[in-house]
Amino acid sequence: MSGNRTGDAVLTGDAVPTGDAVPAGSAVLIRDVRVYGEGEPTDVLVTGGIVAAIGPDAAAGAGEDAEILDGAGQVLLPGFVDLHTHLREPGREDTETIDSGSAAAALGGYTAVFAMANTSPVADSAVVTDHVWRRGQEVGLVDVHPVGAVTVGLAGEQLAEMATMASGVGRVRMFSDDGHCVHDPLIMRRALEYSSALDVLVAQHAEEPRLTVGSVAHEGPTAARLGLTGWPRAAEESIVARDALLARDAGARVHICHASTAGTVELLKWARSQGISITAEVTPHHLLLDDSRLETYDAVNRVNPPLREASDVEALRRGLAEGVIDCVATDHAPHAEQDKCCEFAAARPGMLGLETALSIVVSTMLRPGLLDWRGVAKVMSERPAEIVGLDDQGRPIEVGEPANLVLVDPDTEWTVHGPELASVANNTPYESMTLPAKVTATVLRGRITARDGKVRPKGDR
Ligand code: NCD
Ligand code: ZN
Repeated sequence: MSGNRTGDAVLTGDAVPTGDAVPAGSAVLIRDVRVYGEGEPTDVLVTGGIVAAIGPDAAAGAGEDAEILDGAGQVLLPGFVDLHTHLREPGREDTETIDSGSAAAALGGYTAVFAMANTSPVADSAVVTDHVWRRGQEVGLVDVHPVGAVTVGLAGEQLAEMATMASGVGRVRMFSDDGHCVHDPLIMRRALEYSSALDVLVAQHAEEPRLTVGSVAHEGPTAARLGLTGWPRAAEESIVARDALLARDAGARVHICHASTAGTVELLKWARSQGISITAEVTPHHLLLDDSRLETYDAVNRVNPPLREASDVEALRRGLAEGVIDCVATDHAPHAEQDKCCEFAAARPGMLGLETALSIVVSTMLRPGLLDWRGVAKVMSERPAEIVGLDDQGRPIEVGEPANLVLVDPDTEWTVHGPELASVANNTPYESMTLPAKVTATVLRGRITARDGKVRPKGDR
């Protein structure tokens, strides 16, 4: 763990820190912006951390010291919420920290992220989950919600103390062994029963481990030709089906991480038709990339679940457009150079995603007409906030609502360069690709956290 900078606060047992207090009178005026990309450009005034006015008269309420964001030609959306981020702190600060990951999140338009539990030590106790929350609040660029492990040490054998983590300072609302599947059906059943009683979410990394021994790539013609061990679709789909049934019987809800196959989309449809409480996310990389990328053997393309076939990509896009898949989550997974610049089968799986997510969603969903800007707000902000029960995020852009906002330039293009991203690690699969649309400003509770590609550390203005 990175020192004990949060130690004093922990010992006093104070109330949960709820983020930076907004100094009275500090105001942000967003001019000439199209809210949700709809209607005529208008002004939006933010004061005291809330949306104070929208419309031609909004500017009148802004004091002289109000900061102006020029929204001409831009779209205003609710701040994005990422249900699946790996921030690597504690333990692998050589690849990402809460500080650097928060910067990447703010630059990507996020106002809340959920930091997965596969850290070292594992986030299977309130000591770790509380640390993650407090450190995120100290950094102040994005709300970093800790995800608690379902099982002790992610070993899949013994349930972690979910209730203690849920009632800690970090108030854990989501539990996941992500990186590993909770594969023992009895443990999963118990976890779902507890989650129901605690009113928290269990998110499953759906992978039947007996079907993925040594697997590094999607099982199909490409892997066969390249001599890579295949990961069958059934490894994911069998767990999705099983967990839907377990959730049904437990009267609980379950969330599926990084859905990657057409069959998973069909199973989600079926489960919903049975009234089962099941939600799912898809990553930007599974919306854009397929296993033809593996031809080069570049391990930057190694990820779990693996990049699938073009027909799966198509089904995932359609599933997201139709609401069968609820939301986009980045699965931002930084890795050190030595773990990526190596033989494909030896590389660690995972890709950076926070700073590129919006651009990929624009390119795969908005530009082809599968979603409009309202739809983008839904899948990147509203649904994720709802799924996890955040009441201050993913809110409509209306007077009186918390000012968690993102300003997007839809018409610009930019070229991705790993070293220029805020993450410590560089493992972006989009290196040198030119992508559409860019976040130009992010506002967290009325405070600008990122503007024109630079973060605003807490304390600056
Ligand atoms: C993730 C990681 O690196 O922690 N890797 C990945 O390929 N997605 C774990 C995970 O999300 O399963
Ligand atoms: Zn996973």
